[in-house]
Amino acid sequence: MDIQIDEVKSILKKYNQEHLLNHYDKLDDKKRTELLDQIRNIDFELVTELYNSTKQQKSNNRDEITPMNYLDKFKLNDQYKYYEAIGKKAIKEGKLAAVTMAGGQGTRLGHNGPKGTYDIGLDSHKSLFELLSDNLKEEGKKYGVVIPWFIMTSRENNKQTIDFFEKHKYFGYQKNKNIFFFEQGELPMMDTEGKILIGEDGLVKLAADGHGGIYESLVKTKMTNKMRELGVEWVFIGGVDNCLVKMVDPVLMGIAIDKKVTVACKSVVKANPHEKVGVFCRRNGRPNVIEYSEITDEMAEATDENGELLYGESHILCNLFSIDAIERMGAEPLPYHVAFKKAKYIDEDGKLVEPDSPNAYKFEAFLFDAFGEVDDMAVLRVKREEEFAPVKNADSAGVDCPKTARELYKKYYHLD
Ligand code: UD1
Repeated sequence: MDIQIDEVKSILKKYNQEHLLNHYDKLDDKKRTELLDQIRNIDFELVTELYNSTKQQKSNNRDEITPMNYLDKFKLNDQYKYYEAIGKKAIKEGKLAAVTMAGGQGTRLGHNGPKGTYDIGLDSHKSLFELLSDNLKEEGKKYGVVIPWFIMTSRENNKQTIDFFEKHKYFGYQKNKNIFFFEQGELPMMDTEGKILIGEDGLVKLAADGHGGIYESLVKTKMTNKMRELGVEWVFIGGVDNCLVKMVDPVLMGIAIDKKVTVACKSVVKANPHEKVGVFCRRNGRPNVIEYSEITDEMAEATDENGELLYGESHILCNLFSIDAIERMGAEPLPYHVAFKKAKYIDEDGKLVEPDSPNAYKFEAFLFDAFGEVDDMAVLRVKREEEFAPVKNADSAGVDCPKTARELYKKYYHLD
């Protein structure tokens, strides 16, 4: 133990983070070991770089943003059946897997637990996980296959998520045969002085590093190997918070295969220029998404000669990748975005501080920042009422909340 401590102390001294051991003596043996492991696993060079980046002016506003071409699924005419046939064949051959990003908690919804366990208030009281599994199983049946399902959790919710699935008998899936769980990465949270925070449990305060880490996590946890063993070539990656997500889409797959692109994404038309969604664009000529927090009013409102929004194709987190593309994206580090959040922590005197305004930096990578890694991709516009019913906020917000999602879900499945 002493050797370990000495090793850790010297790392901390080098990066000016010695306070992380301030309360070490008060921890039990298990936590002491955990803390030392955490510290050894931190990439301090990266963390220092991230902190320094919070002090620099954003430079990406010099990026050249231009509109992105798209295909409209319902204006494909004869091509629709052509692409559909290609996609159907690949699905029947077992070449598709689905990944659900479920690393988040339902905090914004006031839900105490993994977001996927949230009940949106349907008469069936099915959770988001169950609604998603219903659709995936139903679609698989159409093609005579079981679509393998991969669930991305976080350290915070991994156990609770697996326990929930266990309790529900994996909704008919078989663990480690056709349903798999893997954890996303984490990064420490830092205060405004660049000090890593200590959490309530006396350990390093870690937070999920955003869904951009998904590519690396899929590779590191060997999920991509597992997919290859299963004969999978294409992977649909979607969020857990869209109860109408359609993970199996032969037209989308057919387009990707026919056009020989390694990424194909679905979009819906923005409900209004200021809807809180990211939109597809090209950044310096490469495929990308410009987030709602980043787009100027002028760009958000700009229209073409037909009166359509120039940046109107909303990114709905419904993206299809070839396994090759995932592996390539996992090999390249993505930029991190900084969020300034409220975070409880233990101060120098060992007291718990519960701030009432933001006090800590959280660093997150976004999955679409990897889109630029590929030469080109396809965007397919689908119908909002068929594919997009997000559950993000509490009902009091009035948008993207359980009430709106429930209404959209019932309408689509004719439940009234
Ligand atoms: C997101 C998209 C936005 C898109 C909108 C559509 C980002 C940064 N922006 O916004 O472009 O138009 O959804 O609804 O994603 N997740 C993890 N781990 C993480 C972070 C997120 O698994 O570390 C999962 C969440 O569980 C959720 C999804 O990713 O399923 C979306 O994350 P969220 O933070 O809710 O993104 P939004 O701000 O809503």
